[in-house]
Amino acid sequence: MDDRSDTDEPSSPLARREAMIATLFVAMLLGATVGVRRTAPARQSAVAAVDATAVPDGWADEQTCIDCHEQAEDFRQTGHANTLVPATDPDSVRLLRLLKDSQIGEVEKAQIRIGDNEVHAVCATNNVPGAASLNWCFGSGTHARTWVGTLPDAFGATDLLELRWTWFQSTGSFDLTPGHPQQKSQSAVGAMGLLFDGPRAWRCFACHSTRLPVSDGHITESHIAPGVTCQRCHGPRQQHVESEGSWHDPAWNAGDRIDAVRRCAQCHRPPEEQKPEEIHENNVDIVRFQPVGLSQSACFKASQMTCTTCHNPHKPLEHQDSKGIWQCVQCHSPEHNDHILCGAGMNDNCLQCHMPPVQHDAPVAFTDHWIRIRNQTELQR
Ligand code: HEC
Ligand code: HEC
Ligand code: HEC
Ligand code: HEC
Ligand code: HEC
Ligand code: HEC
Ligand code: HEC
Repeated sequence: MDDRSDTDEPSSPLARREAMIATLFVAMLLGATVGVRRTAPARQSAVAAVDATAVPDGWADEQTCIDCHEQAEDFRQTGHANTLVPATDPDSVRLLRLLKDSQIGEVEKAQIRIGDNEVHAVCATNNVPGAASLNWCFGSGTHARTWVGTLPDAFGATDLLELRWTWFQSTGSFDLTPGHPQQKSQSAVGAMGLLFDGPRAWRCFACHSTRLPVSDGHITESHIAPGVTCQRCHGPRQQHVESEGSWHDPAWNAGDRIDAVRRCAQCHRPPEEQKPEEIHENNVDIVRFQPVGLSQSACFKASQMTCTTCHNPHKPLEHQDSKGIWQCVQCHSPEHNDHILCGAGMNDNCLQCHMPPVQHDAPVAFTDHWIRIRNQTELQR
């Protein structure tokens, strides 16, 4: 749903048409399995699904990290860990069952068929039933969950069908996936969702997984390590585990704070990838790209602040007092006379006035990381 690249070129008409034909073929074969299925049945956690034995090239089984690191203790509950799960994951299936009775499901006559180890979306166009196999669920559900089906294009590259209906946490129900046309298409594929070509499909997976084996555009889905887990940020760790921690990733800790922010921004969007004319206080579209806003803030410019000044990437937000004021009083407190103090509030609601949640795409709000003094009109948004 939110492919971060606004500069996407549509694929060539030929490749696109061939891909369409492939999808149509698949959509008609009810019950056909598209792409390479995960061999293991879905388990509760995406992290547990990393099959290190099938992984060459220095990747460690992440279940070993907890033996030596407290960072692994509640990591499995983070948004990062759960941001990609197989569609057959029990929680994904539980939500999918709600589609049929949701308002949009009733209007568009969409429902889900659940079989042993497979899930299909079913939707009629001109009274002809079509079905698409769903393989993966994107998004942990903190904001939303969007399902996709994968399928090979004419050249074997992995394309992706993004389902037209997304589940939103704020309403507890389904609505149109952001970016999809209001009007349901009359074509069998279009009625189900939008088709993305190989490069775009690859980008979705790349930001939502830890290890992504791709060759010639073909993703070996059985070997994806889904979710943003330890080794996505810390690099492959087999040598580290075998040496009981004495081998260290030479790339880690090298670099300054801008590099530290860049590490997060590779997925959350670096400021230099935002067009300068789009960076202004009235553009709500940038609120979901935290590095863009943060880098405009006086706090960031005049201190050594990084993302981890306020976030512990090893804990779910709700386990780190994420809405407290401790973040701000690290610097703005009477005890630190090197920083200015609030002349207005200086009570517990720093965020509400200086860093409020801002409504973005219909049912989703993001915390505006452009920390600043706002006037009343701004705060009413
Ligand atoms: C047998 C124990 C052991 C296991 C298993 C282990 N580590 Fe470590 N790890 C260590 C020790 C010891 C250190 C060094 C601590 C220090 O220097 O303060 C360390 C340091 C680290 C560091 C910080 C320094 C660096 O190398 O970047 C990271 C990150 C890390 N481990 C990640 C992991 C991950 C991810 C896993 C699981 C794949 C893992 N570790 C498994 C023992 C272990
Ligand atoms: C490989 C891509 C990637 C990298 C690197 C990454 N993130 Fe994320 N981040 C995501 C995705 C995807 C989500 C959405 C998770 C979800 O589905 O709820 C997310 C969500 C978050 C959230 C919301 C957490 C929650 O539980 O709702 C925070 C906070 C966050 N990231 C901070 C960071 C920080 C800090 C760093 C750097 C240390 C970082 N991210 C690096 C991809 C990434
Ligand atoms: C450049 C990296 C990147 C790409 C490419 C990307 N995402 Fe994301 N996605 C993220 C990050 C980061 C978040 C977390 C946003 C936040 O909480 O601030 C996210 C969040 C989500 C969510 C949760 C809802 C939400 O808005 O928080 C869904 C669903 C999702 N992405 C699906 C997709 C799909 C499907 C694609 C491909 C069409 C895709 N993403 C491409 C980085 C990416
Ligand atoms: C989203 C990126 C991200 C993920 C995922 C992640 N870490 Fe970290 N980790 C970091 C960052 C950034 C730091 C540095 C913290 C800081 O700046 O204070 C860190 C620090 C550490 C350290 C301490 C290093 C030191 O020098 O003090 C260990 C150990 C560690 N992580 C282990 C893990 C383990 C184990 C997992 C998986 C359970 C994991 N990390 C998942 C980003 C991540
Ligand atoms: C000054 C403190 C602060 C800094 C620095 C900071 N954040 Fe946040 N961030 C917050 C707060 C507060 C929230 C809201 C927490 C909540 O809703 O529980 C938040 C929420 C988020 C979320 C969840 C989605 C949203 O927008 O509500 C993501 C993703 C995120 N931050 C990423 C980042 C990244 C990436 C960086 C570094 C570029 C960063 N943050 C730096 C304070 C900070
Ligand atoms: C790492 C230190 C640090 C943290 C943490 C921090 N700030 Fe700041 N902030 C600064 C610095 C430095 C300035 C520039 C003025 C100064 O030197 O005090 C500043 C300036 C400001 C300003 C004035 C902005 C302007 O444009 O004039 C506001 C408002 C502010 N901070 C609010 C906050 C809030 C709210 C939080 C918590 C969400 C926060 N800050 C967290 C360091 C920090
Ligand atoms: C009710 C809204 C509100 C709350 C709550 C609030 N502020 Fe402010 N803050 C403002 C306004 C308005 C200004 C600008 C007017 C002023 O400084 O008197 C401001 C100014 C500031 C400044 C810049 C001061 C200067 O001299 O330029 C800082 C720093 C700041 N706030 C930090 C904080 C912190 C930290 C908290 C929480 C402990 C907080 N604010 C709570 C509304 C608020």
